[in-house]
Amino acid sequence: MVAMTINRRRFLAYAGAALGATQIVACGENKLATEGIPRSRFTGKSTAEEVTAAIDLAGKVAVVTGCTSGIGLETMRVLAGRGAYVLGTSRSLKRAEDACRSVTGVTSPLSLDLADFDSVVRCAETIRSMRLPIDMLICNAGYLGGGNKKQLVNGLEKHFVINHLGHFILVNRLLDRLVIAKQGRIVVVASRTAYTEAPADGIQFDDLGFANDYSDLRAYGHSKLANVLFSLRLSELLRGTRITCNSLHPGIVDTEIDRHFNSVMQFGLRVVAAVGGKTIEQGAATSCYVATSPALATTSGAYFEDCNAVTVLGHNHLYNVPMSERLLQMSEEITADFLVDQKEPTKENLLDDRAAT
Ligand SMILES: NC(=O)c1ccc[n+]([C@@H]2O[C@H](COP(=O)([O-])OP(=O)(O)OC[C@H]3O[C@@H](n4cnc5c(N)ncnc54)[C@H](OP(=O)(O)O)[C@@H]3O)[C@@H](O)[C@H]2O)c1
Repeated sequence: MVAMTINRRRFLAYAGAALGATQIVACGENKLATEGIPRSRFTGKSTAEEVTAAIDLAGKVAVVTGCTSGIGLETMRVLAGRGAYVLGTSRSLKRAEDACRSVTGVTSPLSLDLADFDSVVRCAETIRSMRLPIDMLICNAGYLGGGNKKQLVNGLEKHFVINHLGHFILVNRLLDRLVIAKQGRIVVVASRTAYTEAPADGIQFDDLGFANDYSDLRAYGHSKLANVLFSLRLSELLRGTRITCNSLHPGIVDTEIDRHFNSVMQFGLRVVAAVGGKTIEQGAATSCYVATSPALATTSGAYFEDCNAVTVLGHNHLYNVPMSERLLQMSEEITADFLVDQKEPTKENLLDDRAAT
């Protein structure tokens, strides 16, 4: 009986940690509102519908990766409902088509497998061939393993490849489409596991195959830290343009992110989400808020939770500038064959591109 209790506690703790719930109780005590960024009246209880209520997105174009379930599907539904033209991606074109058909508004399905860099290039080229400005690029798709069996993709740990490097290439190849938008926004859906579960010393520059100390959670948190640091560095590189880039934790939401867990773990996750989590409608709120709020037109490089920019206190690497610089350099080296040279987004280039569009 005692052992059962311990085991049950253990799997609830593990399941909670999987979504970054380890500090549910301490939430609010370990972070401050980020200075200089407008506070919203929205909270963790706000829904994506609510945060976009007064916003007309007619004429805007959004790309939402991972549109077939959970937070991505709700993000696509709400943005399309507000009038945006949404390009939604999935590894399966059929699933993307079904997802697009399930929402009201104008949407187009696209195929994208972030673990396959050729697929990322093809997806980006399909989008580019539409010759549209991109107002919102929402890097939402995500992978969380189960069973603590490390998997490698071309020698690199799988979470890092899918959650970080795949999006890294996609963003690179679509950057000039964001430049020609009135105010392009890159929204990186990270997770609080970036500071609750990532390795204490941050990005494992010398061990991207995770030869040491692998667990699904550690690797997932590591990839989510890469999401936050990529956003931080990109926002710096985009300074002087109209493009903003921010990252966020959506909340703890019962979605299909646990698809690789066994049934016991899935149950645990459901309990944790039910007790301290959000509904899917609430889970998409921070993404939609960061992607659309007029108050955030010039906010870049921030990390959001519950529809507000927060500064997480204590030991973490979320704001580690040297680490973000090294991550970007290393990501460029690894993916060099799949990147394009993006010209400097000068005023002249902007005008050229506008003329061509
Ligand atoms: N749920 C939470 O509590 C929670 C907490 C913190 C952070 N997050 C983050 O929120 C984001 C959305 O997650 P979710 O909870 O909505 O999970 P989800 O229901 O599992 O949705 C994930 C989406 O990503 C797509 N995807 C998975 N692997 C992919 C790959 N290799 N290439 C391209 N697309 C892929 C899936 O589409 P297909 O299978 O159709 O390809 C699906 O649409 C993720 O980045 C996740 O890490 C979630």
